[in-house]
Amino acid sequence: MAKCGPRVRTPFYQSEYAVLYQDDCLEALSHIEENSIDMIFADPPYMLSNNGFTCQNGRMVPVNKGDWDKSGGFDDDTAFHDAWIRACRRVLKPEGTIWISGTYHSIYQCGYILQKNSFHILNDIVWFKPNAAPNLSCRFFTASHETLLWARKDTNAKHVFNYQAMKDGAFPEDKLKNENTQMRSVWSIPTPGKQEKAQGKHPTQKPLALLTRIIRASTNPGAVILDPFNGSGTTGVACGMVGERFYIGIELDAGFCALTEKRLRD
Ligand SMILES: C[S@@+](CC[C@H](N)C(=O)[O-])C[C@H]1O[C@@H](n2cnc3c(N)ncnc32)[C@H](O)[C@@H]1O
Repeated sequence: MAKCGPRVRTPFYQSEYAVLYQDDCLEALSHIEENSIDMIFADPPYMLSNNGFTCQNGRMVPVNKGDWDKSGGFDDDTAFHDAWIRACRRVLKPEGTIWISGTYHSIYQCGYILQKNSFHILNDIVWFKPNAAPNLSCRFFTASHETLLWARKDTNAKHVFNYQAMKDGAFPEDKLKNENTQMRSVWSIPTPGKQEKAQGKHPTQKPLALLTRIIRASTNPGAVILDPFNGSGTTGVACGMVGERFYIGIELDAGFCALTEKRLRD
């Protein structure tokens, strides 16, 4: 499979099927050839680590995930999302698609920016977490989903959607999906269990079942898939599980790059 990625950068990790760069995504993306990527999955900072509280194992714990997740205020956050989404647009093929995952803290800004930059929104998917943590304050509804936006770069191009594979495929983890029925826009997938965290933890790790479904639905063999906020490398691991895809990951944090390397080697 043809390799594709920033040509002048030294990778943190490289194999026949994946390359990982420890870098700021804006910097790394600027070295990637334009119109070269088939699909992007982006799970940007949520901007919610501002000293709130959540529930973990029945206890109140700070919601903070790390400095990378702090909000700089509405205007700074919007400018950040605008910059990385435009950088992603440059490297996507015209028929290429982008997935963006988030909660209300960021997803509406990202949706607005996608539309402002002439992306064509194909779906907004509700990822329902059947095992979401309870709400201890009991003053509002218990957060139990994230939204995934799926958009095509060029309004007139033909994107990949493997309709039949979604209709006929087996999704045993999803209690809302019956066999041989159309895949709907609400997906029930539990958050990652211990087995997926065996190599180490990332505070916002996505389940492999979510990423393998996205890759199967929206790419074909030979696709080049990029994740500008690699985290623990779930997108890269899922590419390996689906097979016949090439992965490019970008991650600022050295510890998360090391965790990704372990997961990819495994
Ligand atoms: C929400 S997490 C992604 C989690 C990932 N989807 C997973 O399953 O592990 C966002 C990640 O982006 C990284 N990050 C934040 N700002 C970045 C930037 N400007 N460039 C590259 N990575 C960045 C953070 O260190 C964090 O690991």
